Amino acid sequence: MLPNWPKISRAAAAAKAAATSPWCAYLYDLEALRRHAGGLVASLPPEFELFYAAKANSDAPILRTLAPIVAGFEIASSGELAWLREHCPQAPLIFGGPGKTDEELVAALDAGVERIHVESLGELERLGVLARRIGVRPAILLRMNLPLTEMPDVPLAMGGRATPFGIDIALLGECLAWLADHPELRLEGFHFHLMSGQRDAAAHLALIDGYVRTVQSWNREHGLEVRHINVGGGIGINYRDPEQVFDWPVFSAGLAQLVARRGLKGWRLRFEMGRYVAAGCGVYAMEVLDIKSTFGRTFVVARGGTHHFRTPYAQSHSHPFRVLPIEPWRRPYRRLEAVREAVTVVGQLCTPKDVLATEAPVDRVRVGDVLLFPLAGAYAWHISHHDFLRHPHPETIFLPIDEAVNVAAE
Ligand SMILES: Cc1ncc(COP(=O)(O)O)c(C=O)c1O
Repeated sequence: MLPNWPKISRAAAAAKAAATSPWCAYLYDLEALRRHAGGLVASLPPEFELFYAAKANSDAPILRTLAPIVAGFEIASSGELAWLREHCPQAPLIFGGPGKTDEELVAALDAGVERIHVESLGELERLGVLARRIGVRPAILLRMNLPLTEMPDVPLAMGGRATPFGIDIALLGECLAWLADHPELRLEGFHFHLMSGQRDAAAHLALIDGYVRTVQSWNREHGLEVRHINVGGGIGINYRDPEQVFDWPVFSAGLAQLVARRGLKGWRLRFEMGRYVAAGCGVYAMEVLDIKSTFGRTFVVARGGTHHFRTPYAQSHSHPFRVLPIEPWRRPYRRLEAVREAVTVVGQLCTPKDVLATEAPVDRVRVGDVLLFPLAGAYAWHISHHDFLRHPHPETIFLPIDEAVNVAAE
């Protein structure tokens, strides 16, 4: 999903004009989010469903936009549980993530979450004790970590190697034996989230095929009748070149072929995606404060920084941006500018790591102009260290759902 630039630019210019001090903001296009998520869900084969991983961006308007579209939400803390119950009280929830405390497990059991993804043998035993004590019989998935030949080479690996996530394949037999003696937990299936940042549709299809064949072989070897797999999230964004998008049409067509090839009629395969759902709806905007040259390089210093928008640092890239020219200039000093040169965009933090874009060519950028960074809807504000240096937080602007379009479409 690429931004609707005219719409974003109009909204940014209006908010900047209304601001009384140097300005920065997040702008989220809820209509774009609605259309994008709706398109994903509509193109999935009936055996597949889409949950949204709330950690990517849990702002209430984002969740409320997605709630009528997705099958539910993946949560990874009791904080997210309470937040989802407050803002989307009817939505089905699945609870995953490492280090779940007893209190969190009890809260999840009390709230009646639909599935708990168990991360370790220790957590399995603890959950059994808690479920017996409360008198419920929760449905669980075992999150597995295993080597797969289909595992692609991606920047962020959560499995396929030594990581804190999931249960080592060597312990599967022990888990199944324990479950056979402990009917207080219902094994509904397996969960895999081995990686993040997958940009190749064919490779992702191969990985999901690997999960399916693995579970089918476990069914045979262990006499199981599992027909539910959570295949995680992990579809990536090309931050360096946003035009290079994941080939969703090829991917969704491939899923339908996978269902036929592996005989998955009647199975339930579930995604829990974050980045690919929400990244495209957000833009981080920064007003240029200063332009300076040092040691032969030009720096554009802008309002805000990586304490608001940590994504470029977290993903080790130079983030693309557009310059939104702002007129008029009424300040009683010269308007500094950089013309047809490569600039490095930094924020206001006292660290050389506060860099958002490196040596990026611009036609012209001036003090008072606004820089618009796309693909800032996921793992952006929510992963950032907001209060470092105690600068003001950015304004948050939600561009509303276009009701006229909704009505026309219905
Ligand atoms: C267990 C789990 N599921 C789903 C996700 C969402 O992944 P993504 O945003 O890459 O789709 C994450 C992200 O870290 C995760 O840890």
